[in-house]
Amino acid sequence: MTDSLKTRPRRLRRSQLSVPGSSEKMMAKAAGSAADHVFLDLEDAVAPNAKVAARAKIVTALRELDWGNKTRCVRINDLGTEYAYEDVITVVEGAGEYLDTIMVPKVKAAHDVMWIDILLGQIERKLGLTRRIGVEVLIEEVEGMMNIDAIAAASPRLECLIFGMGDYSASQGIDIGGAFGPSGYPGDIWHYPRYRLAIAARAHGLDAVDGPFADFRNPEAYREECRRAMTLGCVGKWAIHPAQIEPALEVFSPSAEAVARARKLAAAYAEAQARGEGAVQVDGVMVDVASIRILQNVIDKAEMIGM
Ligand code: COA
Ligand code: MG
Repeated sequence: MTDSLKTRPRRLRRSQLSVPGSSEKMMAKAAGSAADHVFLDLEDAVAPNAKVAARAKIVTALRELDWGNKTRCVRINDLGTEYAYEDVITVVEGAGEYLDTIMVPKVKAAHDVMWIDILLGQIERKLGLTRRIGVEVLIEEVEGMMNIDAIAAASPRLECLIFGMGDYSASQGIDIGGAFGPSGYPGDIWHYPRYRLAIAARAHGLDAVDGPFADFRNPEAYREECRRAMTLGCVGKWAIHPAQIEPALEVFSPSAEAVARARKLAAAYAEAQARGEGAVQVDGVMVDVASIRILQNVIDKAEMIGM
């Protein structure tokens, strides 16, 4: 575990629910949902003529709804728009104490992260906020993918890198045939960017999260995307519809059997070490220090979930 991971707040992000900030009804539904994390959107889910009014709706929703243990996040508009700075100022001045993180879309370079870091610092000082607001960024532009290591290292506020395959496809010119899922490309079209993002996130103590899957009436395809992301080290996936929450919670949680096995092997290994042995066999499988590191990831996840 890197030092930055120890100092950053640990939050569950198995399911990140995207909710249009212009819809009071959907925000109320989101507050009562089972998602670990909810982001109230000012960007693509909100039409330009509704963006300014959505800021106040989000402030009210954050202040007045019961969000339980959820991580409360707001996605602002990208830094190339006229909206971004006022999104941050209005939402944080209006509901800073009721907000955990700000999500920044279309991040291209480290200075984009520094901009939000500095702006949040100014507002926090003005308001006397004692709890640091975190930052999550979307990697969905080719420039962002190229600069991903510098982006991941840009601020101690950073908690999470998200792969946004929709905009990313547009940015790179990938032909996905209309759905945010696997195409006819031999192999998995998302293998490289997911793998790259998960490496950068882990190296900097951040969570790696997989973005949206538009076909919300296809739970099997959604589950498969979750499994692929989870296998590569992502901790969760977006839900754009409530139907996608349960499958993500399930796939991104280790099974009770996997947790029991991890704890059993870790205990067997601790005993072996006490006897002065570096490797041991349990049920016909060799367990050594590397196996223990892998199992520790399962045990850490289980502890966060409370299993
Ligand atoms: N968050 C909270 N509630 C949602 C929701 C969401 N993302 N998506 C749907 N719901 C609610 C609906 O309001 C509806 O509530 P009701 O049963 O009380 O009437 C219920 O869940 C079922 O929704 P359904 O009728 O199946 O879909 P819809 O036609 O109302 O909405 C979308 C479909 C795609 C428009 C909607 O899911 C949506 O806006 N998703 C988010 C889009 C987004 O955030 N995009 C940007 C990120 S990629
Ligand atoms: Mg996008």
